[in-house]
Amino acid sequence: MNILIIGASGFLGYKAYEILSRKYKDERKIIGTYSNHAVDKLLPLDITKQSSFDELKKRLKQMNAMPQVVIHTAAISDVDYCELHPADADLINVQGTMNVIKNFDCKIIYISTDFVFEGNRGHYSEDDKPNPINYYAKSKFEGERVVQKHCKDYIIARVAVLYGHSMNEKKFVNWTIEQLKNNKPIRVVTDQIVTPTLIDDIVNALDVLINQNAKGIFHVAGSETISRYDMAVAVALAFNLDKKLITAVPSSEFKQPAKRPKNTSLNINKIRNLGIKMSSFKEGIIRLKEQLEKK
Ligand SMILES: NC(=O)c1ccc[n+]([C@@H]2O[C@H](COP(=O)([O-])OP(=O)(O)OC[C@H]3O[C@@H](n4cnc5c(N)ncnc54)[C@H](OP(=O)(O)O)[C@@H]3O)[C@@H](O)[C@H]2O)c1
Repeated sequence: MNILIIGASGFLGYKAYEILSRKYKDERKIIGTYSNHAVDKLLPLDITKQSSFDELKKRLKQMNAMPQVVIHTAAISDVDYCELHPADADLINVQGTMNVIKNFDCKIIYISTDFVFEGNRGHYSEDDKPNPINYYAKSKFEGERVVQKHCKDYIIARVAVLYGHSMNEKKFVNWTIEQLKNNKPIRVVTDQIVTPTLIDDIVNALDVLINQNAKGIFHVAGSETISRYDMAVAVALAFNLDKKLITAVPSSEFKQPAKRPKNTSLNINKIRNLGIKMSSFKEGIIRLKEQLEKK
């Protein structure tokens, strides 16, 4: 089986490339792509350009590596950028996803987000109806619809607040560690509740879903529901940093272009019933700490 990871120069995509390449060294061809940020061993692909797909497919055929599975992680994942540049969000998150489907007639794994829910109650299951409240989430949900409409064999994996050790570490947990290490005070919201997800766990879950030939929508999130403020405090405790640097604030104190949903925690019973284990946030940051210490 050949697996193509689109967006392998990104935070989640690179972790998937790293773990799957190591695990399937001699058994499967694992190919990854980058777009603007070239990374050693990855091939170029811009999902907005047909000529770029043509070039990639030529290379894959020469390498005898046309995929049976595509893990499509590429997106504009900056929520405020999407609010301010909706045409770019449509081009990459929606049209780009359509282009991936048109070019690869195989199993497509589309990485989506907890933000497809409006966040009024949390603990959302796969049967709950999405109702996105900002443009990023609308474009990701539209991407889901494109996948459902045009793909015969797909997995939609909804993930939430990613953390871990990878490429492009400009994420909330990594930022919190950095600020606290540098003794910088931070203000963190108490009224955004999430199920933060260790990227290593997502890759393991996708691997199991691929091997079980699973199909449909799956919530692939951490097993602990927690506020952003409590995440920051847990990080301070795990990394022996000063938690007094963290001030709890309501999200109304931040003037951000895109609205943030209040509680988009995900119910993960469906993947649990398939035997997939997802770490709690406290377990996950210990693993992250071990990885950063080995660096
Ligand atoms: N980060 C989160 O907390 C979070 C939460 C929920 C869901 N998600 C979803 O999870 C997925 C991965 O997120 P992430 O945080 O790992 O993203 P990321 O670090 O921002 O990486 C995005 C990737 O997309 C690629 N890309 C961007 N535009 C492209 C284009 N036109 N053609 C081809 N590739 C393009 C980037 O390539 P270059 O860098 O080389 O340009 C990069 O590899 C996304 O689908 C996101 O919506 C993320």
